[in-house]
Amino acid sequence: MSSFASQLIAWQKRHGRHDLPWQNTRNAYRIWLSEIMLQQTQVATVIPYYRRFLRLFPNLKSLAAARLDDVLALWSGLGYYSRARNMHRAAQEIAIRHQGRFPRDYETVLALPGIGRSTAAAICVFAFGARLAILDGNVKRLFARRFGIGGYAGDAKTAARLWRTAERQLPRRDVESYTQGLMDLGAMVCTRGRPRCDACPVAPECVALRRGSVSRLPAPRPRKALPQRRTQMLVLLHAGQVLLEKRAPSGIWGGMWSLPEVAPNADVPALCAQRYGAEVATRKALPTIAHGFTHFKLDIESQRLGVVRVAPRAAAPGVLWLPLEEALGAAIPAPVRRILAGL
Ligand code: ADE
Repeated sequence: MSSFASQLIAWQKRHGRHDLPWQNTRNAYRIWLSEIMLQQTQVATVIPYYRRFLRLFPNLKSLAAARLDDVLALWSGLGYYSRARNMHRAAQEIAIRHQGRFPRDYETVLALPGIGRSTAAAICVFAFGARLAILDGNVKRLFARRFGIGGYAGDAKTAARLWRTAERQLPRRDVESYTQGLMDLGAMVCTRGRPRCDACPVAPECVALRRGSVSRLPAPRPRKALPQRRTQMLVLLHAGQVLLEKRAPSGIWGGMWSLPEVAPNADVPALCAQRYGAEVATRKALPTIAHGFTHFKLDIESQRLGVVRVAPRAAAPGVLWLPLEEALGAAIPAPVRRILAGL
């Protein structure tokens, strides 16, 4: 037996949970109900719902004969109501196809509505003493840390590694204590926040603990691709000076000095004349700069504009002609600095 499995079994017997309402029974209906309720829901929340459900629907036959509304009413407050709908359907399927007896065979259990690979395995382990690997959210976290498995568990490759690990560690004997031990350790010790590594039986071999990566495992869902936006900045140059403009107080770079920002399709010469009294004689596109914000990505196009005349009038408030060197020394956004530095 792997040392992992024997450590876990020894720990479960001493420190694990032994008196939960769905333990110490081989009643597949009761075990099935508990495993479904415990999907996405904590033990303490489940217990009163579990008891009430069994009072009204003490066996498969009563559930199969129930009205869906009555089943849903008992589920009210637990959330994820498709679980209740699937249980109701599964009970009817068992009544019709399996003579009202909960199937003992893993593949047949797996084929029932609302029962995935890990839940089917847990039912068969606890109800029939089968030797099958489970892998629910708590167990994924435990394996990711103990065996140093990076990557998001929703990715096929990472999921396959986790399942391979789960199957490789499965002991020959005492699979029930081992399985309950995985669940108990995941829920009580190897928790998401503030894991109690000092109380963990597998801490001496834990890869994440040794590498200091406990808080980074399991890897979270990768961020969605950020929206891409596009804008244009104008580099107006006149007699060695560049035009800077103060940005609006709110929004990105609020209140900072920056290059004028205009739509990518703006009529640039007309806009320069109207807004800055600047007569543009030459234009040259500059390299696009990619800049990342927390919530979007921005491609900044820019063009260099040779200005031959500036209307002799007081500069508008928030507009400033500065020698290029001084502009580079001002508090300007990083991508604006890159544009100016590249001139
Ligand atoms: N979570 C999922 N199944 C469980 C079980 N049988 N006991 C405790 N927590 C669980």
